[in-house]
Amino acid sequence: MQNRKRNKQGYSVSLGIAFMLIFGVMFAACVEEQQITEQIQETTGETDQESEQPAVALPGLPEYVAGYESWLKLNSEPIPPVPGGDPHNGTKNVFVNKDRETIAPDGEQQFPYPDGSIVVKEATRPGKDYIGLIAIMRKIEGGNPDHNDWEFVEYTRSEQASDFTLLASGRICWTCHSRVEDIDYVFTELD
Ligand code: HEC
Repeated sequence: MQNRKRNKQGYSVSLGIAFMLIFGVMFAACVEEQQITEQIQETTGETDQESEQPAVALPGLPEYVAGYESWLKLNSEPIPPVPGGDPHNGTKNVFVNKDRETIAPDGEQQFPYPDGSIVVKEATRPGKDYIGLIAIMRKIEGGNPDHNDWEFVEYTRSEQASDFTLLASGRICWTCHSRVEDIDYVFTELD
């Protein structure tokens, strides 16, 4: 009788120890996983918050330009309004969805731009402090064979709180941009 009781006690104790060990191992694994995640975030500079918030296009603009502000900027200084009449009136920046190495291998810009290229120009209208114009050139294979496959569209808004609306597209754009056909219709070159 006594023996059985002792055995039972012994059994509970070992069960207790076994549980403690299992939990201990699980806890250690959790801590390690947390540390690894933190290390990855430290090296990539990524945080949970950033990865959960994908870039969204300004209201009225096509989704394919979402996040253009973080693309490669072709101009190093803002482009001032053209005196005597500016087709894209304002102070401008031009971005492309390609990296420097792709469009300028060995430091020198190559033409034409590859298929899938998107060039975005933003303009802040004179006297305003928000972006009032977004002009887009998007190269889609077979999309516009007479003009190196560039699709041209331009959106504007006259108040910061308004959605962008389509202003013009196509022929009116490429008739002027044909002046720089030799550099693939894109006036602004990589600085
Ligand atoms: C009368 C000439 C003219 C017309 C018309 C014109 N553009 Fe432009 N565009 C320019 C010039 C010049 C630049 C160079 C930057 C600047 O000074 O604004 C430019 C720049 C751009 C850029 C940035 C890339 C680049 O070429 O430097 C885009 C994108 C663009 N235009 C799209 C359009 C679209 C879309 C239309 C039609 C809705 C259009 N453009 C009509 C002259 C024109």
